[in-house]
Amino acid sequence: MKLSVSGRASAAAVVAAVTLLATGSIAGAAPAPTAGAAAAAPDIPVANVKAHLAQLQSIATANGGNRAHGRAGYLASVNYVKGKLDAAGFTTTVQQFTSSGSTGYNLIADWPGGNTDQVVMAGSHLDSVTAGPGINDNGSGSAAVLETALAVARSGYKPTKHLRFAWWGAEELGMVGSRSYVNGLSTANRAKISGYLNFDMIGSPNPGYFVYDDDPTIEKTFKDYFTGLGIATEPETEGDGRSDHAPFKNAGVPVGGLFSGADYKKTSAQAAKWGGTVGVAFDRCYHASCDTSANINDTALDRNSDAIAYAMWALSS
Ligand code: TRP
Ligand code: CA
Ligand code: ZN
Repeated sequence: MKLSVSGRASAAAVVAAVTLLATGSIAGAAPAPTAGAAAAAPDIPVANVKAHLAQLQSIATANGGNRAHGRAGYLASVNYVKGKLDAAGFTTTVQQFTSSGSTGYNLIADWPGGNTDQVVMAGSHLDSVTAGPGINDNGSGSAAVLETALAVARSGYKPTKHLRFAWWGAEELGMVGSRSYVNGLSTANRAKISGYLNFDMIGSPNPGYFVYDDDPTIEKTFKDYFTGLGIATEPETEGDGRSDHAPFKNAGVPVGGLFSGADYKKTSAQAAKWGGTVGVAFDRCYHASCDTSANINDTALDRNSDAIAYAMWALSS
């Protein structure tokens, strides 16, 4: 408790100091940014994303080896993420639903401010399958979205649009949590979501760089980021069925996202542009007990985490 209070106080002190620098007449202070210029997205520290993954691994280990819907490791995962967001100043909501006779939970975090008629959302499923701890699928997306949200708070970002982050339950049972969320929105509130960005498996150990091909503006935003890094991407075309963007897309919300590959094998053409191992799955441990904290490619996790921040800033400023 004390820690989070003092953490917030020192963050406020930093904001005050930055405000003084920006408005005061201290010699050598950098000029204020040009009016209307978009704030630059921060670099997301991959070490912080990995620290969240280590916590999710510990939660699975302490709870029978998984973080699946209806198991103790799932709610413990929700409480871990919620604690970080609450301490950073987010407004969090836990939404319950029922699936296969068990209570499921979505965690929603709103960053106060911005135009709530134009909401930019990022989300990821927080549940694993029962077979294992689900660190690439989908600790990776969950940890990267969490760290992006924490970076919003650290930077004191004041977006033009409103930012909302989501962690979905029971994706592995057929996108149950995200569908429940979308079904629960009024027509008016659904229309206020200007974009939903989905992150499911973004640290695959033999990675590819796939960008969802659904909404052209969102797709271009991600492609621009990877072009800037000199990294080729391929379109991810399974928009209608494979993850939590599907309920949003079916409801008419523009969607996009990133994916580093699951059980398909890397081709020689793909290895030529991305490196890695030809003829081996992007994630050999997909839905298996070996999807542990060892089942992560740090470079892919880092690039995709930075891409999330880039897109959230670009689409909301
Ligand atoms: N949603 C799948 C899962 O969680 C993973 C997956 C396979 C996927 N193919 C995809 C996610 C394409 C996004 C896009 O098990
Ligand atoms: Ca980074
Ligand atoms: Zn998944």
